[in-house]
Amino acid sequence: MEPFLWIFLIFGISATVPQCITGQNQELLLVTIATDENDGFRRYYRSTKKYDLETKVFGLGTQWRGGDMTGAGGGHKINILKQELEQYKKRDDLIIMFTDSYDVVITANAEEILEKFNKFSARVVFSAEGFCWPDQSLVSQYPEVKVHEKRYLCSGGFIGYAKDLYEIVSYKDVLDSDDDQLYYTKVFLDALLREKWNIKLDKRSELFISLHGALDEVMLKFKGSHSFLYNMKTGTIPVVIHGNGPIKPEFNRLANYLVDGWTTSSGCISCNEDTVSLEGLQEEDYPSVLLGIFIETSTPFLREALQYIAELDYPKQKVDLLLHNNIENHEKDVEPFLKQYASKYKSVNAFKPSDNIPESAARNWAMEECIKKDCQYFLAIDGAAHLSNPKTIQYLIQQNRSVLAPLVARREKAWSNFWGALSSSGFYARSEDYMDIVFRERIGLWNVPYISGVYLIQSHVLPSITEGYINDNLDADMALCKTLREKGIFMYVTNREYFGHLVFVDDAETKRLHPELWEIFNNPYDWHRRYIHPNYSTSLEESTVIEQPCPDVFWFPAMSETFADEMVEEMENYGGWSGGKNDDSRLSTGYENVPTDDIHMTQINMQNEWLEFLRKYVSPLQQKVFPGYYHDPPKAILNFVVKYDPSRQKSLRPHHDSSTFTINIALNHPSEYQGGGCRFIRYNCSVTDTRKGWMLMHPGRLTHYHEGLQITGGKRYIFVSFVDP
Ligand SMILES: *[C@@H]1O[C@H](CO)[C@@H](O)[C@H](O)[C@H]1NC(C)=O
Ligand SMILES: *[C@@H]1O[C@H](CO)[C@@H](O)[C@H](O)[C@H]1NC(C)=O
Ligand SMILES: *[C@@H]1O[C@H](CO)[C@@H](O)[C@H](O)[C@H]1NC(C)=O
Repeated sequence: MEPFLWIFLIFGISATVPQCITGQNQELLLVTIATDENDGFRRYYRSTKKYDLETKVFGLGTQWRGGDMTGAGGGHKINILKQELEQYKKRDDLIIMFTDSYDVVITANAEEILEKFNKFSARVVFSAEGFCWPDQSLVSQYPEVKVHEKRYLCSGGFIGYAKDLYEIVSYKDVLDSDDDQLYYTKVFLDALLREKWNIKLDKRSELFISLHGALDEVMLKFKGSHSFLYNMKTGTIPVVIHGNGPIKPEFNRLANYLVDGWTTSSGCISCNEDTVSLEGLQEEDYPSVLLGIFIETSTPFLREALQYIAELDYPKQKVDLLLHNNIENHEKDVEPFLKQYASKYKSVNAFKPSDNIPESAARNWAMEECIKKDCQYFLAIDGAAHLSNPKTIQYLIQQNRSVLAPLVARREKAWSNFWGALSSSGFYARSEDYMDIVFRERIGLWNVPYISGVYLIQSHVLPSITEGYINDNLDADMALCKTLREKGIFMYVTNREYFGHLVFVDDAETKRLHPELWEIFNNPYDWHRRYIHPNYSTSLEESTVIEQPCPDVFWFPAMSETFADEMVEEMENYGGWSGGKNDDSRLSTGYENVPTDDIHMTQINMQNEWLEFLRKYVSPLQQKVFPGYYHDPPKAILNFVVKYDPSRQKSLRPHHDSSTFTINIALNHPSEYQGGGCRFIRYNCSVTDTRKGWMLMHPGRLTHYHEGLQITGGKRYIFVSFVDP
């Protein structure tokens, strides 16, 4: 609704402007200067195509001699124009619009542009900006302007009669290394010349807007399937959008939407442009990929990450693998992966921590290998990225962008593998659309200033960024992104599909054998996936009748076999078994009436994690079988693993537990020991055929007087919690 209102307003204002100085027979030609067809140029070019604008590109393939464009310079542009515009010097029906191209998009067709131009009643109109540059001393020579108007000339965009423009660019000699903005500024500030060519500045951004210093004056608007930029200060809709100066990330962000790239009603229109297809290809005809796997920090659930990589749906014979592992404790995850899959890849290069290769060197090496092997794509995947979408590589290739990351984020969290904006110091800043992109409320392809974790780079980009990861002051990913930004190579992130997620790597219990056991808080999704029994939730379904091997002893599939195995390994690795003595310094009373040979969760710093497990997984089961009883959260002081071993503790005498209810999880399979089990005396009922990972739940301090039956061989491990003592 909103857009209509102010469109009226603009027409209202326009009506008071003097009428056009020429008739209908005008022709518009866009000209720009670009020495190479980089991503910025392609974005500009797309916009001219979109609006059917006739466009001439000068300078392609030539050596740029106008400086690095970060300081003064640009005289080369004037000299190119002088040469190229000569052919039009007699044309009085031709309107030429010059703009930069790497940081410009056009958002209107010729008719609209000419209409806006004609309303100026000028022969030549330059864009204007809020900074007087490069020579500040010229400020006072500029005509005054009203509040909200821009006072100073910007050479990034101008429009005018071919004849006049030619005269302007050729009236004086200029060196390639001279500053073009200063040249035009001096023309404009010379009142005689200004009058001669009837030059005006686009003070109100009717046509041009230079966004440096003006970002807070504009907002994106959508109308139907169209997107445009609205100047809130002047009420205008500029149609040449120039991301000049140091605001490239913000401009890139706006440009994701402009030129109808993404609109509220049509979504991502640009997403299906320039894509390639892998459909129907024989395996051997798939593009070759160098896959770099980087394990640079302790990373919980690495085993799963590697498994996802192994399951990516892409011919492994087209993939050269380079794996860099910097973490000793992860060799146990890497080795089985390589053992199972190495032979399937075209080639494998694996580096261990003992090879002592720093991260940036390894990453650079991977890019060089890619170049050497004449690969078509470099795919980097960090250990924290779980690509659960097996089509990921194919989607990325088919999207056909120079650098493209699939969106991955921590589950249900805003932490992701891209930044929507940069702070002034080059670090993270949140963009207005960041949350919508992370949570996939806005689906599309997003040009962003920083990506990490997993990304695909087209090989044609690699030669210009071979040292890209190396920067003394930045970590490898920040360094690469800075390099890419400086080279004007766009980084996109796509959330068009769900690709997977990131695990949280900080605060891991890295000193443990199986640090993942502690990850119920940091990585609850992955913890569940690895450790909870696949049929856990079946018990919660209303129709499920819970098994009772003895009266009021309920039996649930609770933990995975992996949990049982890792818990036992972790306990044996820790080794602090109590020995089953009555005197027990771990207890506040210092005395245990019915001692077992055990290790308490407090000893291995897992008490809080275990309470979380009780709250999240045990409490719902308890409420199902003992309805009406509910403590939130469940409490338990004693959570421990018991070991029955004929040479140590064989059995446990009859007792009541000091709990409201007790859970007892079998951590190994009955085939691993002889004898053993739990007998409930009141019912003369024993559970001996225990099931690994399954949990018994029974009342604690009444009715279920019980004993641990004698074990005669092997070892039996159980996990016990006395809940609500
Ligand atoms: C891939 O993208 C490039 C650059 O935008 C383009 O030139 C090329 O035509 C695209 N490939 C296909 C098959 O569309
Ligand atoms: C889960 O339950 C189904 C159906 O009863 C069964 O076939 C399957 O083996 C169970 N899964 C595991 C891991 O026990
Ligand atoms: C308990 O059960 C066992 C085996 O089921 C049986 O042999 C025994 O007689 C029972 N004892 C009592 C006291 O009922």
